[in-house]
Amino acid sequence: RYEREISALLRKMTVDEKLGQLQQLPWSWDTGPGGGGTEAATKAAREGRLGSVLSIYGGKANNALQKIAVEETRLGIPLLYGFDVIHGLWTTFPIPLAQAASFDPAVAATDAEVSAKEARTNGIHWTFAPMMDVTHEPRWGRIAEGNGEDPYLTAELAKAKVLAYQGTAKGRDLKAKDKLAACAKHYVAYGGAEGGRDYNTVIVSESQLRNYYLPPFKAAIDADCATVMASFNTINGVPAHGNSHTLNEILKDEWDFDGLVVSDWTGVQELIPHGFAADGAEAARLGLNAGVDMEMTSTHLVTNGKKLLRSGQISERRLDDAVRRVLRLKYELGLFENPYVDEAAVIGEPTPETRKAARDTAARSMVLLKNDKKALPLAPTTKSVAVVGPFGDSKDLLGAWAFPFAAKKAPAITVLEGVKAAVPDAKVTYALGVDADGKDTSKIPAAVDAAKAADVTVVVVGEAAALSGEAAARSDISLPGGQEQLIAAIAATGKPFVVVLVNGRPLTVGDWLASAPAVLEAWHGGTEAGNAVADVLFGKVNPGGKLPVTFPRTVGQIPIYYNHESTGRPYDPKNKYTSKYLDLPNGPEFAFGHGLSYTTFETSAPKLGRDSVSARALRSGDTVEVSVTVTNTGTREGDEVVQLYVHDKFASIVQPVRKLRGFRRVTLAAGKSTTVRFPLGADDLGFWTNSEDGKFVIEPGDIDVYVGTSSDATAKAALKIT
Ligand code: IFM
Repeated sequence: RYEREISALLRKMTVDEKLGQLQQLPWSWDTGPGGGGTEAATKAAREGRLGSVLSIYGGKANNALQKIAVEETRLGIPLLYGFDVIHGLWTTFPIPLAQAASFDPAVAATDAEVSAKEARTNGIHWTFAPMMDVTHEPRWGRIAEGNGEDPYLTAELAKAKVLAYQGTAKGRDLKAKDKLAACAKHYVAYGGAEGGRDYNTVIVSESQLRNYYLPPFKAAIDADCATVMASFNTINGVPAHGNSHTLNEILKDEWDFDGLVVSDWTGVQELIPHGFAADGAEAARLGLNAGVDMEMTSTHLVTNGKKLLRSGQISERRLDDAVRRVLRLKYELGLFENPYVDEAAVIGEPTPETRKAARDTAARSMVLLKNDKKALPLAPTTKSVAVVGPFGDSKDLLGAWAFPFAAKKAPAITVLEGVKAAVPDAKVTYALGVDADGKDTSKIPAAVDAAKAADVTVVVVGEAAALSGEAAARSDISLPGGQEQLIAAIAATGKPFVVVLVNGRPLTVGDWLASAPAVLEAWHGGTEAGNAVADVLFGKVNPGGKLPVTFPRTVGQIPIYYNHESTGRPYDPKNKYTSKYLDLPNGPEFAFGHGLSYTTFETSAPKLGRDSVSARALRSGDTVEVSVTVTNTGTREGDEVVQLYVHDKFASIVQPVRKLRGFRRVTLAAGKSTTVRFPLGADDLGFWTNSEDGKFVIEPGDIDVYVGTSSDATAKAALKIT
């Protein structure tokens, strides 16, 4: 739409001004090594050597810097402001991994809508979200920022977020005062980091790349996502920032992406320590030529661009293309018409409505892992409750990518506060037991005394927010230090108790699980975490979340994920020579898709098509409807997530034992039933081959279609592709 204006502007620009548009510098704080700070950014803006700034917020600061760019530079091109609005700015929503556990795209959309409004009124134009790196690695700290191990679930949630950040389902409207440009990150295969160590090597076949890592990005681009961020990892020896195959060939050519590719923090610079570029000039050349359009933090393009152009190592055409992508976004955001933000309209704290949204989404994201003898919900008439554990009275519930200014203005509601508010007539006590890193266990006896004196004890344990997120890999993913000791001591009292987990990744739950009557996975729940936990504990909300990621029994089992390939020797307890560990049961602790409710559900066998058959032949291009009836067989209303998995039994590339291809969260009153219908098309049944040019095939053969309430579902129907 703006191509003519952009061409006219490009004609006026000098090479230095063009290179300046490709530079992004940080403002308030650093989210990586080095940085520069406000002085460096102000100077670059004044000299017209800056296109974008990250981590700047608040009407005043944004307008002041914008004024310099608009009024003091020759062409007055406005700056583009980016920010990591990952799960909220002022109102912090549950971490993205938790949102994925809701199996409800509306949860992701609610976060994105509120976040976009809060951010845009603060002068932010662009969020570095959604993160859509699927991973098999619970040790990786960044699992907290994504949607877990499944590409289909991730794609559905990423799509919902992109649409809600940028506009509505009808299309993106970046001029709107409550919308943001989105960024699909980190492109690509970042979740494959070896050993779960951040920034580590990724070796991945073309078919794995296309079947596993790329689908969420494709879904985001199809949803019109404005930008993409390159990832820190290598892909088969080629850093993602210098990877022409993934950036140019797949993203820009095959998918026709005309948006902006931004580097990650010093991602261009890091081509040097990767051993891929000899110096800054080479890093700039390789990055730009591979498809990176904007350089975050490091300054190799702006420094070396002119020289590279003169020597023909980069072309004017490619330079103009990169600048065009930056300008296109600025035009679309309306920055040329109005570069400033209305300082009177700046939002600076959560509202009752956004708090309610945060509370509802946090409760909707919780997963009831275990509930023996209906230990939960607790009776609202309970006379006395002991809340114990390092996270029982902790405000550290916001999770990774929560901001100190938001934590100060709107600290998380603690579980203790939530419980007190939920049962105002009960005697509610608190005892720490152990500290968050589990080192000081000296207060366990006091917690035991508190438990003995109460009708029921709520043990709140987990991980500090700093244990997940970027550069926060753990080699041991159990509860830190003596936290397990605390649970054992409370269990030894013989009094009723339940465990609430607050964490940013799957945990290995260990021996204490057997002693705990009920375990609620509450994740890092955001601003309203404590209230949401209490809503679920006391049954105001019936939990309906499901695990978006497998929980291993031990670290030695990793990687363990539901969508693994078939082995030639599947585990058979009667046969020694089958695939297993000698010292562990074969399955995970909790399977992908697992989650209980305070009520019970039954699902019927799946039917194919409206004519109620359970086996059917399908031709490529056909769509078949899979239907299943789900009934609430318990005594109270509740939510169930009906899940559909497919398995291609024989193929030219060995296929995953199951692939999620549909899910629907339904709410049913006691005794009620509903029929859930999933359209299943050819695309759901095919796969990408190892061809570098991208070959998607649907092969004739047999497909098993499983429907149920976790990835362990056994009810199935048979499809034949002819
Ligand atoms: O957006 C982030 C990215 O996810 C990790 N590195 C820093 C970027 C900007 O803060």
